[in-house]
Amino acid sequence: MKTLKIIISTIALALVFGGCAYNFIVPEPTVNPDDPNAAEVSFSAEIVPIFASKCTGCHTTGKQLPDLTSDNAFSSLNSSRYVNKSTPASSLIYTKATGNHSATFTSAEAAKVLLWINQGAKNN
Ligand code: HEC
Repeated sequence: MKTLKIIISTIALALVFGGCAYNFIVPEPTVNPDDPNAAEVSFSAEIVPIFASKCTGCHTTGKQLPDLTSDNAFSSLNSSRYVNKSTPASSLIYTKATGNHSATFTSAEAAKVLLWINQGAKNN
């Protein structure tokens, strides 16, 4: 009887503490780059961190152009070489990192970068 109680309480405890332990992986929401009503993308708060996490190992001051470090990213990209405001999807900063490159954007990051260019590639 005692053994049974121990078994039952062990199972009950396991259910209480272990039963509901899910690890939710919340997918990154993907913006629609063509949505004219989309919230404004912030270059400093949303784009620069993408560069910092996957690009600045190479694209840093004094190394590979464009310099994508937080202090220099905007001025480096503020040129028709990297940003094509009339045809945003052909911007080099977008095509490079969505093509066959050392590091690439996730689809959510790519959508955000494209939306930023569609919104005028502002230094915001
Ligand atoms: C492992 C090093 C490395 C990483 C990481 C890397 N790049 Fe590059 N990138 C290069 C090299 C080398 C070149 C020059 C050769 C070429 O054009 O592919 C280059 C070229 C580029 C160019 C074209 C530059 C020009 O003026 O022609 C762009 C734009 C670019 N990278 C964007 C990015 C972005 C955005 C990321 C992050 C998602 C990134 N790169 C990550 C090494 C890297």
